[in-house]
Amino acid sequence: MPNMKTLGEFIVEKQNDFPHASGDLSSLLGSIKLAAKIVNREINKAGLVDITGAVGSENVQGEEQQKLDLYANDKFKAAMEARDQVCGVASEEEDEAVTFNKDLNRNAKYVILMDPLDGSSNIDVNVSVGTIFSIYRRVSPIGTTPTQEDFLQPGNQQVAAGYVIYGSSTMLVYTTGNGIHGFTYDPSLGVFCLSHENMQIPEDGQIYSINEGNYIRFPQGVKKYIKFCQEDVPADNRPYTSRYIGSLVSDFHRNLLKGGIYMYPSTAMYPNGKLRLLYECNPMAFLMEQAGGVASDGKNRILDIIPTELHQRIPFFVGSTNMVKQVESFIEEYP
Ligand code: AHG
Ligand code: MN
Ligand code: MN
Ligand code: MN
Repeated sequence: MPNMKTLGEFIVEKQNDFPHASGDLSSLLGSIKLAAKIVNREINKAGLVDITGAVGSENVQGEEQQKLDLYANDKFKAAMEARDQVCGVASEEEDEAVTFNKDLNRNAKYVILMDPLDGSSNIDVNVSVGTIFSIYRRVSPIGTTPTQEDFLQPGNQQVAAGYVIYGSSTMLVYTTGNGIHGFTYDPSLGVFCLSHENMQIPEDGQIYSINEGNYIRFPQGVKKYIKFCQEDVPADNRPYTSRYIGSLVSDFHRNLLKGGIYMYPSTAMYPNGKLRLLYECNPMAFLMEQAGGVASDGKNRILDIIPTELHQRIPFFVGSTNMVKQVESFIEEYP
């Protein structure tokens, strides 16, 4: 029997590092783990049962909702409500933040923000998708209904963040601010096992990820950076490799392991970029900084941005330190 540590064991071990910890956060991470297993089971059946395709409705951001968007949203929301550690949830798929009114939930100290199914356009074609989550301590008094201020906190206030990638294997990756750790799901045992402890992204990378179809309307500095990536400079390992899956979680995960940069700048269709600050950029920025990399809107640190609305979008540049610094310097030089 290999000396495998499960996610549950790892969480308890880490909690013991903080003698006064109440265990609430550990329990919350346990709920996420459970919902991830349920969603994973459903995704694995895509193509066999009627869970692919659109439902015919749009979310508040004008995107067509897929059946699995709503399925994942419901399962994660239910898991949060069931265990009493969360007083409210904000989701890409919900117009407004959802507050839980049971007494036990009103007494809970955490709120969670999530992208229940990331990369949903990839489900029907059997390409990896994910779930992203972000956890904050509420600022409103315990025992009351959570307010907008609980959800609109800057990313530097996150107490935990993570993602699940439903890929060639399913993994859960998370941080509580003490490094970033990855767990691979063993479906035969039904457990996530520690496989990637303390991940660190290489400082330099050779992969750039961007939807180049939007090139014509990218800001000048981004265009210059793309040309820089494509230049023939063997001493600098250029040209770099272009890789774009179209699921942030998958593109991020690959770049984290190999070194690279993911970019979603402003485009003709999305003047503020497409990605959502609260559900996508903040959690990924927290994870990336914990891995030794950088996350920026092209000029500023993502985690210091003060959010003004729930579904706010923001340009996003995330990955290996030297690559993000390089694109920032092009953006500064060619505004
Ligand atoms: P979601 O499926 O949660 O709406 O997110 C989709 C996002 C992100 O995952 C991905 O990187 C990006 O949209 C892809 O956008 P384009 O298709 O415009 O490249
Ligand atoms: Mn969407
Ligand atoms: Mn997404
Ligand atoms: Mn989504």
